[in-house]
Amino acid sequence: MNRAYRKTIIAGNWKMNMTPAEGRAFITALRPLIQRTKWCETVVCVPFVDLSNAMKAVRGCRISVGAQNVHYEKSGAFTGEVSADMLASIGVKYVIIGHSERRQYYNETNESVNKKILAAHAAGLRPILCVGESLQEREADVTKEIITTQLKIALANVDAASMKRTVIAYEPIWAIGTGKTATADQAEEVCNMIRAFIRGKYGARVARAVSILYGGSMKASNAAELLAKPDVDGGLIGGASLKTDEFSAIVHAANQ
Ligand code: PGA
Repeated sequence: MNRAYRKTIIAGNWKMNMTPAEGRAFITALRPLIQRTKWCETVVCVPFVDLSNAMKAVRGCRISVGAQNVHYEKSGAFTGEVSADMLASIGVKYVIIGHSERRQYYNETNESVNKKILAAHAAGLRPILCVGESLQEREADVTKEIITTQLKIALANVDAASMKRTVIAYEPIWAIGTGKTATADQAEEVCNMIRAFIRGKYGARVARAVSILYGGSMKASNAAELLAKPDVDGGLIGGASLKTDEFSAIVHAANQ
């Protein structure tokens, strides 16, 4: 983390878990556990149907609400989809874009991810852009190439002002939901490389301002070590974001 230049962010990704009532109860229980954590921005990224309850539950506290996906068109005949303007209209601040589960199960490509990033910015949302390599890619030693390609395409036509509002999440696919965490050094190596990419494209000022998160089996017991690295500015948390004690402990680790 480097709070002199950028925000520390802990974002929970509930995935397809929790009904609206459960989500509201969760946030209500979480609130008192994360008082006095002003150095860390806490975000909950919830299923679409949970969004309005989540917005009510965070009223009067500093927790922000995010969605887990968005469509790139403004409106129209896209059955089952939700636009960026719809999300922004109810006060949603963040949206996860290009999560590996969406790339894997719903055929999202770097090109569609790019369209979604542009749509999110046009609506004033802050995208959390997910990138990461598979185990096979890591073993073949092409991690840098894979992530550079993902960034190049996903960030096409994103201007510097929008880049500053973009959060990047480095999520090695082999670490997601597997209990296998990247070592702090592995996470730092890639997060540092991502920042170097941003520096190359947008310059040092922008690169310094962008929060880069690590995601993949981050939990209370390993958060502090990962967050101690200079280029790891927070976490995108799946499984451990569903338990108030685990999640709040991660927020406290990020607030240190
Ligand atoms: P995990 O998921 O923390 O359960 O590994 C992270 C993510 O998919 O964002």
